[in-house]
Amino acid sequence: MSDYLRNAWYVAALSRDVNRLPVARRLLGEPLVLFRSTDGRAIALEDACPHRKLPLSMGRVQGDAIECGYHGLTFDCTGRCINAATQDRIPPYAQVRSYPVRDRYGLTFVWMGDPAMADESTILDIEHHDDPAWTITQGDFMPVRCHYLWLVDNLLDPSHVAWVHTTSFAGAGTDRTPLIVEDQSSGVLCSRWMLDQPPPPFYAPLVRFAGNADRLQHYEMRYPSVGINKGIYTPAGLGGPGMQDGPLTYRMASYHFITPVDDDNTLYFWLQHRNTDIHDQELTRRIAAGARAAFEEDRAILEAVHLGMKNSTTRSTGLLLDAGANRFRKGLSERIARERAIHQAGSASL
Ligand code: FES
Ligand SMILES: [Fe+2]
Repeated sequence: MSDYLRNAWYVAALSRDVNRLPVARRLLGEPLVLFRSTDGRAIALEDACPHRKLPLSMGRVQGDAIECGYHGLTFDCTGRCINAATQDRIPPYAQVRSYPVRDRYGLTFVWMGDPAMADESTILDIEHHDDPAWTITQGDFMPVRCHYLWLVDNLLDPSHVAWVHTTSFAGAGTDRTPLIVEDQSSGVLCSRWMLDQPPPPFYAPLVRFAGNADRLQHYEMRYPSVGINKGIYTPAGLGGPGMQDGPLTYRMASYHFITPVDDDNTLYFWLQHRNTDIHDQELTRRIAAGARAAFEEDRAILEAVHLGMKNSTTRSTGLLLDAGANRFRKGLSERIARERAIHQAGSASL
């Protein structure tokens, strides 16, 4: 069973999918039910009635409470049982866990650790989010049948685009331009400039200039599993480290929220952000469709990698391109170990 970093926000759903009908989700091995209260707040409760552990998501939302679909035990938004329809007395231990929840950027974030430590300010701050010169696509998601760290590795690995995304992101130099790997307090950043190359198929129609480009790939992961992927294109000769934005600079950013479901399953959420043609809905639609198609390519690879590594009978080999992923995994394990030590010390002193 995997260890997870628990004191963190994870995306459980697109906000538009959380409504008055209960939605069942599993995060970090725990069953959750999500719904909205009458005043529109997203609510997350343990999805298991304390009587026979029937998922509450199979029951009904009634006002600001949810009623079990088996014998009617009813729980308010804090998880407290407020009605036991079959008897006069509410059983004293009838309680389900409730989770802190926030809607941000069209995504519903759930805090999976100690509720007292939930800190809204630690939800990823999307740069330029309130800047009217930028626009954001509606988020999207897909379930992926792999361990979440295979997705995390992939988001620290710009080399794979040369083989996996041949019709979209691959371009000259993506196969073997060396990466700069930087440890940051919040995670790991892998980046590289590729100079004076034709832009790849996905970006060629988006950049505002003809001819070759200087291109930055910025692949950053923040603990525990949030990816920030930035691309910069400038006319050849104007890019490179320390570049200044000019009128033809094209920037895009995509944000990836990787939510572990269990050891073999992950929910993959994302959204894109850009600073060009922001009112062009058709372009927004095309970018969203292009991103989904590319992430389907990742999914096919990562599901097969998961099975290949899980069922492997021979040694696997490391490559230099794994450096960023290896550092991130190490940093994340240290954080998980620290969290667990604090938790055990706390439990021992009770
Ligand atoms: S299982 Fe929920 S009330 Fe019986
Ligand atoms: Fe990819």
